[in-house]
Amino acid sequence: MRSILLLAAATIVIVAERNALADGSGDPTAVKSENGKYFDKDGIPTFKVAADGTVDWYTYSGYRRYHSDCHVCHGPDGMGSSYAPALKDSLKTMSYADFLGVVASGRKNVNTAQENVMPAFGDNPNVACYMDDIYIYLRARADNAVGRVRPPKHEDKSAAYAETENACMGH
Ligand code: HEC
Repeated sequence: MRSILLLAAATIVIVAERNALADGSGDPTAVKSENGKYFDKDGIPTFKVAADGTVDWYTYSGYRRYHSDCHVCHGPDGMGSSYAPALKDSLKTMSYADFLGVVASGRKNVNTAQENVMPAFGDNPNVACYMDDIYIYLRARADNAVGRVRPPKHEDKSAAYAETENACMGH
């Protein structure tokens, strides 16, 4: 009996360590950056948190965008609500492509008595221009790289980011 318990404990530790290194898009470790945007080994956008807690610009921007357009339904800090799922948990298994698809096209849950609707944001520039920002912030939440607070320190917005943002927003 005791050896079975020890075996179970060892298995839990291994699973916990794996979870710390992977989410729905794989290993989130940043291996390269372009103008302040970080990418993992598969070229998928990811977060970068320095030892002193400074986050990359996208994580910070995503925090702000999430809290202006998503938190009314999904709860503060990606924690979920009785109406919509905790995206902090969704991204543990959901891929980048699936995330973009649901946010752009929306989704309707017709299985429950109460009809829960995820609106389509593909035509809303306040979201569509910041898809990667929101994704990167939530990916950082899924991997416990940032906590339930506004990131206190962040990298500067790059000139390239500002240019793309202005073009996307039509300024
Ligand atoms: C009006 C409420 C509402 C708003 C605002 C909203 N969502 Fe949703 N979202 C939902 C509901 C409800 C679901 C679950 C739909 C279902 O069960 O099919 C959902 C599902 C999702 C999913 C799939 C999660 C999973 O586990 O499968 C993602 C990703 C998502 N939303 C992202 C976002 C993002 C990003 C924003 C902000 C830009 C946002 N949502 C804003 C209501 C909302």
